[in-house]
Amino acid sequence: MRPLATALLAALALPALPARAADAKAIFEEMCSMCHGETGHADTKLGRKQNIPDFTTPKWQKQFSDEKIKKTIREGIVDTKMQPFKDKLTPAEIDALLKLIRSLK
Ligand code: HEC
Repeated sequence: MRPLATALLAALALPALPARAADAKAIFEEMCSMCHGETGHADTKLGRKQNIPDFTTPKWQKQFSDEKIKKTIREGIVDTKMQPFKDKLTPAEIDALLKLIRSLK
């Protein structure tokens, strides 16, 4: 095969990367873990100070519906350190975070 054709084929074979893959773990570590802890236990200085619930307990998992979790991430909780993330995260990223939070239990 001619070198040019080979190069062209190689370029075509590269996977098309989405602008920003919804990598929930990376997002959680970057934007949430300083308060909620890397594993959702809220075992952080801020977590203790703010009384942040432990996402991993069955009680919490039962108490919060999927919609309530997504709404909390989108809109935050008024008068707390939990800020709204709807301007920072896409709906797909919020869905991915919900799945991650569900997987912590
Ligand atoms: C600056 C600290 C901080 C950051 C960063 C933060 N949170 Fe929170 N979050 C809180 C606090 C404080 C609460 C509890 C508020 C309350 O109910 O008093 C909370 C509550 C929540 C709740 C509801 C839990 C409950 O029982 O009230 C969810 C879900 C949540 N956070 C998800 C996230 C996600 C996902 C991120 C990252 C995108 C994030 N948070 C980033 C501080 C933070």
